[in-house]
Order: sequence, then C-alpha cells, then structure tokens
Amino acid sequence: MFNKGLLKTYLLPPPSTIQTYPKKYFGFFCEVKFKLENNEKSSIVFTWNIDYLKMTLSNDSKSHSSIYKRLLLLIEGWFPNSASYSELIEKGVEYRPHYAYCLYNAAIQAKRLGLSEITAIEFGVAMGGGLTDLEYLSKKIERRTQVKINIVGFDFGEGLSPTNDHRDLLYLWQPGDYMMNEDALKAKLTFAKLILGDVKTTLPNFLKTELKAPIGAMFVDLDYYTSTINCLDPMLTLDSKMLLPRTYVYLDDLTYTSKYTGEFAAVEEFNIKSEFRKIDEIKLLSELLALKWLKWLYLGRRIFWLHIFDHSLYNIRDINDKSSIQDPLPW
Ligand SMILES: C[S@@+](CC[C@H](N)C(=O)[O-])C[C@H]1O[C@@H](n2cnc3c(N)ncnc32)[C@H](O)[C@@H]1O
Repeated sequence: MFNKGLLKTYLLPPPSTIQTYPKKYFGFFCEVKFKLENNEKSSIVFTWNIDYLKMTLSNDSKSHSSIYKRLLLLIEGWFPNSASYSELIEKGVEYRPHYAYCLYNAAIQAKRLGLSEITAIEFGVAMGGGLTDLEYLSKKIERRTQVKINIVGFDFGEGLSPTNDHRDLLYLWQPGDYMMNEDALKAKLTFAKLILGDVKTTLPNFLKTELKAPIGAMFVDLDYYTSTINCLDPMLTLDSKMLLPRTYVYLDDLTYTSKYTGEFAAVEEFNIKSEFRKIDEIKLLSELLALKWLKWLYLGRRIFWLHIFDHSLYNIRDINDKSSIQDPLPW
C-alpha cells in the first residue's frame, strides 16, 4: 500500500494546540508520513495527550475511575474527536461525567451559535475537587470544540456560615462544614480564578467588572437555600449576552430535600421573579442518557437549563439540525 514510512516524534504539542494548554501541559505527538503507490503523500498524526495524567485531577475522581475507563480515555486522547468524546461522557467514562456533560454541551451550544468563548462557574468550592476537575475537563473540551473556557470558583473560604433558616437544611450539614485549605488549593490550581467571600457580594462585583464571556454552565453546590438564592438572583438582571440562551445549571444538593427547602425552593423563587428567565429540568434528559449509562437516572436529574427567553439567539436552531451541525475536527 505504501513504500516508505517516516516516524517523527515531537516532545511538544502540535503548534495548533499549543496556545490552548496551561503551563502544566506536557505531551507529545508523533507523525507518520508515508508515500502511497500513486505518489500521493499522506500523513497521519497521532497525538498523545497526557494532560489527564499530568494535570491535577481531584482524588475523588481518580478513585472513581477503573483501569478500563482510563484506558478508553487514553485511546480517545490519541485521536481526540468531539463526537467520540461526547460518547465517552454519556457512557460515564470521563471523570466527573455530570460536570463534563454540562461543560461539553455548553461549549457545543456556544460553538453552534457562533460564540468562541464561555465562562463556567462553580458556586461552592470547599477543598476544590470540583474546581480542579473543571480545569482538567475544560482543557480537553477546548481542544475538541475550539471554544475557550474560563473557569471561576466562588466560596466563603471558611466553611459554611452560621444560619438558623430551616430552608438551609441543617439536618444535612452544619455551620463550619467544608473548610477550605486555601494555600493547598491555590497551589493546585493552574488557571481557574478563585473568588473568596460571600457570593452575595462577590458575585455581583464579578459580574459587573470581570465577566468577559457568556456564562455557559453553573455548578451550584452551596448547600444552603439562602446562598443558592444569592447566586441565582444576579442572573435575573445580567445582560442576556453574558449568558447562553440555555445556560447549563447543575444543582448538586437535591437529594433528601423538598420543593420548600434548599435548591428546589431557590429555583421556585427564581422562576416566580421573572417572565423571561426560567430554570427547569431538561425534560427526559436523565432517561435518555440512562440508555447509555444507568447512573444518569440519578445524575441527569441534577442537570437543568436556565432559559433566557429574551436572548437574541434563543430561537436559533442548534439541536437536531443535522445539515448545519459540523462537529469540530480533531486537528
Ligand atoms: C459542599 S461544599 C462544595 C464542594 C465542592 N463543590 C466540591 O465538589 O468539592 C459547599 C461550599 O459552599 C460554600 N458556601 C456556602 N454558602 C456560601 C456563600 N454564601 N458564599 C460563598 N460560599 C458559600 C461553603 O463555604 C462550602 O465550602
């Protein structure tokens, strides 16, 4: 089939991807060039991206992944491709698949709507397991979608604050829980921005002065109803351009709660306040995803959309339009 082979190994990422990687990135790619019989030159580029080994994953994620899943991720990393990556997320192979699902699909929505950059926020960071995994995931998703992702985390920094409000679910957690080791976390983070203080004040300041790209996904894990209200409320008045038409909202703390307490109560209240901004479950998503991986029956129920009905792009078709959908090529 071919008469000449040439194998080159480079100790750096391909130039096209070099800029998207943080300082901790290290990997190599190799290029096999061969000549076909009709003299047409052809080349295959294998990239071995070891970001998932070198970039810090949370211990939680590491301990939840089997060798088999790690192998599948390794192989996909050689041929990074948006469609196969999506499959790995949906089959529960990627680390922290619920975060991966929201982040990946936010990036895809942005791409299909012609946006090149989004912001993902984790509300409630604690020891930083979620935020470190978001760094890891965002680099992989950037590479497969070419959508730049900014990561921001908000936390008190000193564990849960005192409260007597029954809606804050003190039967599940108590003031002082989830203390952060700030120095250790900052040493671990590569590029995510960590904002400390009460979201009631830090979030409005951030939205006013620092938010550069639309929020594509919010990972809400503040435990308290009162805190959740304070992270959702600013979304009522935020310029629609600073959100995706259907921003992903992951709500972590729904188990053992009610619609009168915790995050459910905060969402109910949010929805009453605005005609054009509504948070709702993505109908049948968990059932649909559970056809591929049973745990979505539970995890999928935590994934919501914040609909921005008055968004200028809300009526643009970005799902089920096979003719216009062009998933990004791997290289
Ligand atoms: C369950 S922990 C977050 C865990 C983290 N998402 C993870 O995956 O490892 C909840 C965090 O929310 C933070 N929190 C709660 N209310 C807050 C508020 N009003 N402002 C800032 N942080 C808050 C607490 O300090 C606590 O660290």
